[in-house]
Amino acid sequence: MSKKGDRYVESTKDFEFDLERYISEERFQRIKTFCRDKETPFLVIDLWKVARKYQELQDGLPFAKIYYAVKANPNEQILRMLIDKGACFDIASIHELDQMLRLGVSPDRLSYGNTIKKARDIAYAYQKGVRLFATDSDSDVLKIAENAPGSRVFFRILTDGSGADWPLSRKFGAHPDTIYRIILSAAELGLDPYGISFHVGSQQRDIGQWDHAIATCKYLFDATREQGIALRMINLGGGFPANYRAPTLATEVYTREITRFLQEDFGDNLPDVFVEPGRFLAGDAGILVTEVVLIAKKSEFNQYNWVYLDVGKFGGLIETLDEAIKYPIYSERTGPCQHVILAGPTCDSVDILYENEKYELPADIEEGDLLYFFTTGAYTQSYCSVNFNGFPPLKAYVFDEEEFREKECVAP
Ligand SMILES: Cc1ncc(COP(=O)(O)O)c(C=O)c1O
Repeated sequence: MSKKGDRYVESTKDFEFDLERYISEERFQRIKTFCRDKETPFLVIDLWKVARKYQELQDGLPFAKIYYAVKANPNEQILRMLIDKGACFDIASIHELDQMLRLGVSPDRLSYGNTIKKARDIAYAYQKGVRLFATDSDSDVLKIAENAPGSRVFFRILTDGSGADWPLSRKFGAHPDTIYRIILSAAELGLDPYGISFHVGSQQRDIGQWDHAIATCKYLFDATREQGIALRMINLGGGFPANYRAPTLATEVYTREITRFLQEDFGDNLPDVFVEPGRFLAGDAGILVTEVVLIAKKSEFNQYNWVYLDVGKFGGLIETLDEAIKYPIYSERTGPCQHVILAGPTCDSVDILYENEKYELPADIEEGDLLYFFTTGAYTQSYCSVNFNGFPPLKAYVFDEEEFREKECVAP
C-alpha cells in the first residue's frame, strides 16, 4: 500500500488482462466498433463463437446427439443457427416448446428435459408431437403415462455437483435405487424406458464426475435388463465449461476422457449418447458492455473503492450469487491497478457482484468508462429481471460476422 495525497490506494502490478485468452485483438476491435453509439448496458452475442463451440463438441464427441439447453440463451439467432446445423434442443417449459415450434423445428428434435411439469403441460407437449420426456419421480411418470402415452422417457439420477462452479445438486434426480423402481413402474404404465440422464453440475471442473455417473448408468442398464427392460440411451447432461476467469482443462480433454469412461463401461457397443450443453455453447459468445456509474470510497481507512456499474445481479449477472461465476472483466485503461469492490445499480444490498473475490482494475478508472464482461453469453439475458428498480431487461445485439448484420434482441 502507498499513500497518494490523502487517498490510500493499493498499487500492485500493471493492469494486464490476457485478452488473447478470450478474443483476438483484431476481432475485439471489430466488435467494439460494432458497439459504438449503443446505450449501455447491453450484451453482444458473437454468433460465430457459438458455431465454433458447437463444432468443437461435435468433433470431440462425434457419436453424440447434441441437445442445446435453450434456457442458457434463447436468442433466436442462436437457435436458428443451431437449427440449421442440425442440432436438437432440450426444452424446460411449454414456452420454450412454443418458441422452438415457431422457429419451425420438428418436435422429434425436442426433449422435454424438465422433471418438474404440470400434467396439462405434458399433454400440450404431447399434442404438439413431443415424445421424449425426462423424469425422476413416481408422480411425474404417472402424469407422463396419462398425458403422453407410450412416450420415451429417460430417468435422471442424482449427482452431488461437487467440482462444479454452479452445482445443480439435490433438486434434480433421484437415488439409483429409486430410479430403478421408477423405471419398472414406467414400463408397467406403458411408457418406453429409453435411458438414464444426469447433470454433473454446471461449469464442472472435475471430469471424473462423469466417470462416476456413467458407472451408475451402467449399473442401472444391467439391473433393468434382468427385468426384461432394454435401456438404450445415456444423457451426459451439461456441465461442459465456458472460459471464465479460472481456466479449465481443454475441451478435447473432457471429450477424450468422457469417451474413455463410456468405453470402459459399455465397450465398443455404445448406447445412444446425448449431451445437453448450454453454458459451453453460449457462454464464450457473450460480451456484456457496462458503464461505470459511480466510484465511491467508504472510509479513508478502507483501501477498497466501490465501483458501481449500470448492470448488476438483477440486470443479468445473477450467477455472481455467492461469487460463483467469476467473469473476466476488461478495461481499456492500462497501468497500475487497484483492488475494487464491484456492485450493481439497484437499491438492493444483494446487488453486489464481487466483494470477497477482489478484482483489480486500473487505478485511474473513471465514471463513464466502459467495462467489458467476457463470457457472458449464457445465463445472463435469460436470467435478468423484468423491471426491478425500473431498469429495463438487458438488451442483446447479435454480431454476425458473415453479414455484419445488426439486430437488437429483447428477451423472448
Ligand atoms: C436439464 C438440463 N440440461 C442441460 C443444462 C445445461 O447445463 P450447462 O449450462 O451446464 O451446459 C441444464 C442447466 O440447467 C439443465 O437443467
